[in-house]
Amino acid sequence: MTLEQAQKRVDSLRKLINQHNYQYYALDDPTISDAEYDKLLRELIDIENEFPELIVPDSPTQRVGISPVSELKEVIHIKPMLSLANAFNEDELLAFNKRIKDKLLVDSILFSGETKFDGLAVNILYEQGLLISAATRGDGYVGEDVTHNIKTIHQIPLRLGGDDIPDLLEVRGEVVITHKGFETLNENQRKLGGKVFANPRNAAAGSLRQLDSRITAQRPLSFFAYGIGDYKGNVVLNSHANILKRLQQWGLPVSSEARQLDGVEACIDYYNEIGERRSQLAHDIDGVVFKVDDISQQHNLGFVSRAPRWAIAYKYPPLEEMTQLLDIEIQVGRTGALTPVARLSPVSVGGVTITNATLHNIDEIIRKDVKIGDWVFVRRAGDVIPEVVSVIKEKRSNVSEFVMPEVCPVCGADVLRQPGEAVYRCMGGISCVAQNIQAIIHFASRKAMNIDGLGEKLIMQLTELGLISTVADLYSLTDKQLSELDRMGSKSASNLISALNKSKSTTLERFIYALGIRDVGEATARTLARHYKTIESIEKATTDELEMLNDIGPVVAANIHTFFKQEHNLDIIQRLLLAGIKWESKAAETSQVFAGLSFVLTGSLQKMTRDEATEKLIALGAKVTGSVSSKTNYVVFGEDPGSKYEKAMKLGIETLDEESFMEKINLSNTL
Ligand code: IVH
Repeated sequence: MTLEQAQKRVDSLRKLINQHNYQYYALDDPTISDAEYDKLLRELIDIENEFPELIVPDSPTQRVGISPVSELKEVIHIKPMLSLANAFNEDELLAFNKRIKDKLLVDSILFSGETKFDGLAVNILYEQGLLISAATRGDGYVGEDVTHNIKTIHQIPLRLGGDDIPDLLEVRGEVVITHKGFETLNENQRKLGGKVFANPRNAAAGSLRQLDSRITAQRPLSFFAYGIGDYKGNVVLNSHANILKRLQQWGLPVSSEARQLDGVEACIDYYNEIGERRSQLAHDIDGVVFKVDDISQQHNLGFVSRAPRWAIAYKYPPLEEMTQLLDIEIQVGRTGALTPVARLSPVSVGGVTITNATLHNIDEIIRKDVKIGDWVFVRRAGDVIPEVVSVIKEKRSNVSEFVMPEVCPVCGADVLRQPGEAVYRCMGGISCVAQNIQAIIHFASRKAMNIDGLGEKLIMQLTELGLISTVADLYSLTDKQLSELDRMGSKSASNLISALNKSKSTTLERFIYALGIRDVGEATARTLARHYKTIESIEKATTDELEMLNDIGPVVAANIHTFFKQEHNLDIIQRLLLAGIKWESKAAETSQVFAGLSFVLTGSLQKMTRDEATEKLIALGAKVTGSVSSKTNYVVFGEDPGSKYEKAMKLGIETLDEESFMEKINLSNTL
């Protein structure tokens, strides 16, 4: 290959790879397989190796990580990276508001509100649009050079896009790991026997300060830009809102929660509103930040020591607290897994009282060196179960060792650990009451049969009294039996009976999910229901056939197959169907008016839940996906729709408010 030919091929490969990166990372909608992508990238790497003179700093090869550096070099920020003053209650926020109003001699201030990301601050320097270097905050003046690692984050452009590219720009923002990313990362680390991180912040910091960027490239790092440092450019940036908008236009990710807030009252509402949604956000936040929006007002206010007078962080209570671990008990799950659970001295974490937390498995107990009687840090974040993070060794006295029981604490059957598995399992199967109780709890849960009012306590009570032993017994319960129970009036008894009756009209996918087949979650249940259409056909399916379906691998296929080979399970299914459980068969194929259409739901709907809307759409033949791409046909938006809505606008996809959505659905019913 001549240099000229190489240049040509390199140009077209880069264009192609960048296009696929955009499909994958920005649209979440890849159009080629991972293997095909790797092949293109490999070809580009090979040519660049042969012709190093062709390497450019924004080549996609620069994202895969380079050989390890020996140390992180010091970098001096052009403009220092300041810190923020904090407010811990409303009075402190009001005092801040009053101070600046008095100083500016105005009645009310226009603020910019955004979340305070709990990650690691970085400064990214762009010159003539090209990413030149990136550094951690360090002491605010001098940070560490992490350019090699920052380049592996696909959300961060190696070259700015859009118009009015500045001669020089320092982008300020935070590197974070989402809750989901954190869970997956730790799960992998556990499997590989690597370091398990205490929280997403530590994981982000550890990943960003790696000497080997090939490791960083494997970590699920995200980035949010929240401001700028030095700036030399033609466009006048006269408000914070304007800065965020520009950053976004240049291709930098900005939080969709940022909003202009008129006056301090709006700030308080914002704090409360975000506080309510805090656990549902994709990543950790430890507060919200209010910045005076007008840049000339910011200049007038200036700084005190190392923090601006024009901004404040209004903090939320921490999600990690200290408490004493009183005991370690074993919980037996639906599939027989024995999970050690810490019983804690009650402690309020982020406004919720916690009395127990998971310890995952015995390996984790050994790794964290947890003993009964220890003082520990517990953490609650997102929708995940609270967990014991670490032990405070300095406070240790009078502790005792935890020993994994050799027999199931519930049914007495043997406990075994399969090779390669971190968990011990009870071998009691259906004869283990604990497994049965968990199976019934799962059966009744919202996403399964959705039996209102049938919670864990009641299920335990019914089991202990011998009124039920499997899910099939639920539908034989009588009003009389129920109203005789402790703490159950005749009203609640008849409510439960109607809830049970109501649950009988369901969908095939809910029913499959409710059966609690190991590894068959909602998505797999949906796949099975849509493909096989009847329970009998799933029963007859071979493992080979099952494996042909999307998302079903050999392990799950074997689980499904084994489940339907058990006489006991078939008997339960039969009894449930005889009790009157039914779903509309897909004979109503004619009503599949949305077949082939792809929908995305965003924001909160008022007239139905998102789950209900999804179910309805799927019943009408539509596909409902989590992210907006060029293939999306409609984006249905409720209140506070956020980034998906913006993306739809950007891509020119038709959006429907709730009312038009309802109209569309109702219209389809009459077709
Ligand atoms: S602005 C001059 N905005 O908080 C203002 N900081 O205590 C400088 N942080 O080290 C910061 N989210 O890492 C700002 N939306 C946000 C932020 C944010 C998180 C962090 C940042 C900084 C620390 C300041």
